[in-house]
Amino acid sequence: MNQKTYYIETYGCQMNVYDSELVSNMMKLSGYKQTNDLEAADAIFLNTCSIREKAEETVHNRLNNFQHLKRKKPSMLIGVLGCMAQNLKDVLLEDKPYVDIILGPDSYRNLPKIIKDRSKTSEHLVDTKLSKFEIYDDLFPARTEGVNSWVSIMRGCDKFCTFCIVPFTRGRERSRPIDSIISEIKDGVKDGFVEFTLLGQNVNSYKTPDGKFPTLLDEVAKIEGVKRLRFTSPHPRDVDDHMLQVMSKHDNICNQIHLPLQAGSDRILKRMNRTYTSTEFLNLVDKIRQYIPSCALTTDIIVGFPGETEDEFLETLSVVEKVEFNSAYMFKYSSRPGTKASQYDEHITEDEKQDRLERLIDLQLNKTLIQNKKHIGKISNVLVEKVSKKSNDQWSGRTEGGTWVVFDKTNEKIGDIIDVKIDDARGVTLFGSRTYQGYNYEVA
Ligand code: 5AD
Ligand code: SF4
Repeated sequence: MNQKTYYIETYGCQMNVYDSELVSNMMKLSGYKQTNDLEAADAIFLNTCSIREKAEETVHNRLNNFQHLKRKKPSMLIGVLGCMAQNLKDVLLEDKPYVDIILGPDSYRNLPKIIKDRSKTSEHLVDTKLSKFEIYDDLFPARTEGVNSWVSIMRGCDKFCTFCIVPFTRGRERSRPIDSIISEIKDGVKDGFVEFTLLGQNVNSYKTPDGKFPTLLDEVAKIEGVKRLRFTSPHPRDVDDHMLQVMSKHDNICNQIHLPLQAGSDRILKRMNRTYTSTEFLNLVDKIRQYIPSCALTTDIIVGFPGETEDEFLETLSVVEKVEFNSAYMFKYSSRPGTKASQYDEHITEDEKQDRLERLIDLQLNKTLIQNKKHIGKISNVLVEKVSKKSNDQWSGRTEGGTWVVFDKTNEKIGDIIDVKIDDARGVTLFGSRTYQGYNYEVA
């Protein structure tokens, strides 16, 4: 008999990418093999995201396309996983009766049993219980190959920012034991990965009886073969001296911090429940730069939060002006039913949100270019990651700060960390050439 196949498509954050690897592992253990051929697959999964309305719309449209596949092949299983499964199970059950399986982010362990039971029943199989304990620490993800490996260290979020659906779709914070994380990373090194990114909705709230986030960071940085270590996303409130000390102590911890600002006005920050003021955020930036002068800073910003006035938006621009982030993810506020902010009045019009977003993007692109131009004429440590999209004769790699650099191939290979002299900065990308003049280089 032919081996059964599954197809999986992932939307949203890196945690979903990681979870899709866990699901892949479980499907393989159930005897399935992965396919890219959607129409021929025996099971199709969409791992979904609810963070903004647009993310949900994309998945709804995709699911509508699957209806005709199911008509052609009624035995095909269609599964919705992740945040939308958690959040919208009733809507999905009602509007999309061809969806067979609905599993929330804490229910993947039940997948093999559910797949087996499916042959006995044609009922919908739904499991969206959130767990206080599920950390999947014994289930390692099925990775293919590459240089970057993502490692989930904690799940869930207890911060309850008023705009955010995550605490509802992913439940309470829980951290994975240090030993289990270390053994996954050691396996990753054996499989050829060189860069590791510790992952969590609130990565630096990590806390176990064996230590908090800085202790974990310190332990992971000591593992032989971990050439680069990153983490995302921290909350500014949980950045402390100990974390910055550990970062400055280890050369393999990249000098980069993603520090979500969200807004620059104190009144809006309070309404968002971010628990810091703009002055506290700016002081933190100063402190980070004292510990790690070359630290790249990236951020997330929301424009058009309910009640945000023009002057309050200008305060966001002013913080962006002062900090000079290396890059930013910028979003229009999207109301998420069930969150506290969705009940606030004074919602901002779509046109106004769009206008603010464009003004913010203009300013930030300018800042990115200013930051990138500072590299011109200098030598950067670059991890060779993939062939450049522009030419087969060029590589793309990232600096420690996370900026992409394009340069001509010589004798290096993917996974090498090399010195590149930066010649130019255009858009959000750096351009350079390999050099042997620097310090601290590895010959490929
Ligand atoms: N609307 C717009 N952006 C949001 N984010 C989270 N929730 C919303 C929302 N309701 C953004 C925040 C967060 C990033 C992952 O997504 O900036 O840091
Ligand atoms: Fe959402 Fe805030 Fe938690 Fe981040 S810290 S996941 S923005 S609630």
